[in-house]
Amino acid sequence: MAGPIVVVDAEYLKEIEKARRDLRALISSNNCAPIILRLAWHDAGTYDAKTSTGGPNGSIRNKQELEHAANRGLNIAVELLEPVKKKHPKITYADFYQLAGVVAVEVTGGPTIDFVPGRKDSSDSPLEGRLPDAKQGVQHLKDVFYRMGLSDKDIVALSGGHTLGRAHRERSGFDGAWTNDPLKFDNSYFRELLKGETPGHLQLPTDKALLEDPRFRYYVELYAKDEDTFFRDYAESHKKLSELGFSPRRKNSALVQSAVVVAVAAAVVALRYLFDHYRGTK
Ligand code: HEM
Repeated sequence: MAGPIVVVDAEYLKEIEKARRDLRALISSNNCAPIILRLAWHDAGTYDAKTSTGGPNGSIRNKQELEHAANRGLNIAVELLEPVKKKHPKITYADFYQLAGVVAVEVTGGPTIDFVPGRKDSSDSPLEGRLPDAKQGVQHLKDVFYRMGLSDKDIVALSGGHTLGRAHRERSGFDGAWTNDPLKFDNSYFRELLKGETPGHLQLPTDKALLEDPRFRYYVELYAKDEDTFFRDYAESHKKLSELGFSPRRKNSALVQSAVVVAVAAAVVALRYLFDHYRGTK
């Protein structure tokens, strides 16, 4: 069931900024940016554009969803975030988890990602099986991300999230980190990927798939040599992921309405002037 409409007023925005500060402190002092980013992505990545179900709605906190095989270990992230969430009860879980994902990227040196609040919470969890399976290849990646409404470019840019963190054998069956510095957000995931398998670096079948498809490979090569372009595209794709199924209500719509009223009034006065002027010159 979807929660009530979220009213994003000045007070809500203030609370978001306070939570942002608390999250920065929590994530830096615990070095937990990777698992927090994974939590935000797994909450959002269940989205199905056809049925408008799943997506960034906080449902990952439900026990039943946390027990999905793909989410193994993410109870740790939910528990780490809970004390900060309790301090900010006004904020929805949906917003809070996405804010935490944005902060995780930021505090590890990644790009700034625009964050717009207002997501509704849901108590409904999708059926298991919507998140990608690391043992599969190109077609599976496309099937899963196209279902969310995302593109080939989004798939590659977002896969760059594996610049952070590592796999844990007891969680996923895989082991090790993708890069030399798993707490630094940079383009090293792509540089390592192009080197092929090297000792001490993890490459999942789905990572390797990014080299097989020519459209994927184009972006891998681009991001490996141009970190600024990677950061720009990553920030754009991450924002899309974090807003799947969510259409932010236009802020300042009252302001826009009054601007239209003023413009119409000005046009009436101008026409009246021209009309009078025309009559006067007859
Ligand atoms: C493209 C499809 C993807 C697959 C198949 C995949 C699969 C995996 C797997 C198997 C792990 C290891 C989990 C563990 O054992 O702890 C992992 C970790 C991780 N994933 Fe992904 N992932 C994908 C996309 C993404 C995306 C889009 C992001 C973020 C934008 C992301 C962020 C992460 C992070 C940060 C970790 C490290 C977590 C930690 O250190 O605890 N992944 N992923």
